Amino acid sequence: MKKAKISGVGCYYPDNIVTNDDLAKIVDTSDEWIHKRTGIRKRRLSTGENTSDLAVMAAKNAIKNAGLIPEDIDLIVLATTSPDFLTPSTAAIVQGRIGAKNAACFDILAACSGFIYGLKIVKSFIESGAYKKVLIIGAEVLSKILDWNDRNTCVLFGDGAGAAVFEAAEESGIETVNIGTYGDKADLLICKSHPLNNPYYKEDMDTFGKISMDGREVYKFATNIIPEQVNLILKENNLKIEDIKYIIPHQANLRIIETAAKKLNVSMDKFYVNLNEYGNTSAACIPICMDEMNRHGLLNNGDKIITVAFGGGLTFGAALIIWSK
Ligand code: ACO
Repeated sequence: MKKAKISGVGCYYPDNIVTNDDLAKIVDTSDEWIHKRTGIRKRRLSTGENTSDLAVMAAKNAIKNAGLIPEDIDLIVLATTSPDFLTPSTAAIVQGRIGAKNAACFDILAACSGFIYGLKIVKSFIESGAYKKVLIIGAEVLSKILDWNDRNTCVLFGDGAGAAVFEAAEESGIETVNIGTYGDKADLLICKSHPLNNPYYKEDMDTFGKISMDGREVYKFATNIIPEQVNLILKENNLKIEDIKYIIPHQANLRIIETAAKKLNVSMDKFYVNLNEYGNTSAACIPICMDEMNRHGLLNNGDKIITVAFGGGLTFGAALIIWSK
């Protein structure tokens, strides 16, 4: 059976850097509050680019990094909570714009866990022999679905995109992926799409199209699910935490990662963190981290990496990847 080997990574984010002090001019907040509670210092916010624009750039970078051309790609899976349209999929827009004319395309919605859900799909499709060269993208312009009057949420997120190419190969690649959902907790992090509106029923428009979140409950969930999922991956693969070069966690809040590190009894050095620079870019966080780590020369062939995420749904997931680029 072939494995899903990683062969390219890329990312892209808007040029517009927005600091906590900049946000303090928009909502009642401060650099001190945001940094102390979350670790975030700044984020990138779109000044006109939509999710597909960011995704196209990340995709091009990942395909180039893999040494391929867009026509080589036979499947595009794009994870986003902030698509350009309900239809067509953002993956289809990307396919058309990069000229990946041989690729089937679809979007997946699993909030901040979207990239891990995508890894599960990629692994299954490549191992089954259905596809050979798959592009997976996590892309978000969350700023368009934030309530810019709600300081509880608008300070936490940023816009960005990351992408990875996986190819069928004999060597190691995506070894294990676990995903799950607690749908009974769906109300904790929501963004209603369209109001019911037909000749027979009309809903009030006011509560639609903006993210709202019970931050404390999501925090509790996150600090439990990260160690639980990391330990599950270790157990399933008969590994110890010392065998893992890096854990790439979803970049929501530094305190969440620090608490998870304590529960796992490992140093923070094991975790790759860049949320200070970009905030929470939801489905884009993990591939952005992978690309940064690759460009900074932090990963060598054979390194074992665990990626772990949580998000609206509530969704969660973790994966063991053996780096083999
Ligand atoms: N600036 C200043 N004060 C603020 C801000 C702000 N931006 N936001 C909230 N506050 C105030 C609150 O109003 C509250 O004031 P009060 O005590 O007078 O009522 C006070 O700060 C404390 O608020 P808490 O909610 O208790 O703050 P907490 O320490 O829990 O931190 C936070 C809030 C950062 C949201 C935290 O709960 C968290 O990170 N939760 C997880 C969120 C998360 O990871 N979400 C992403 C999920 S992924 C996805 O799918 C999108």
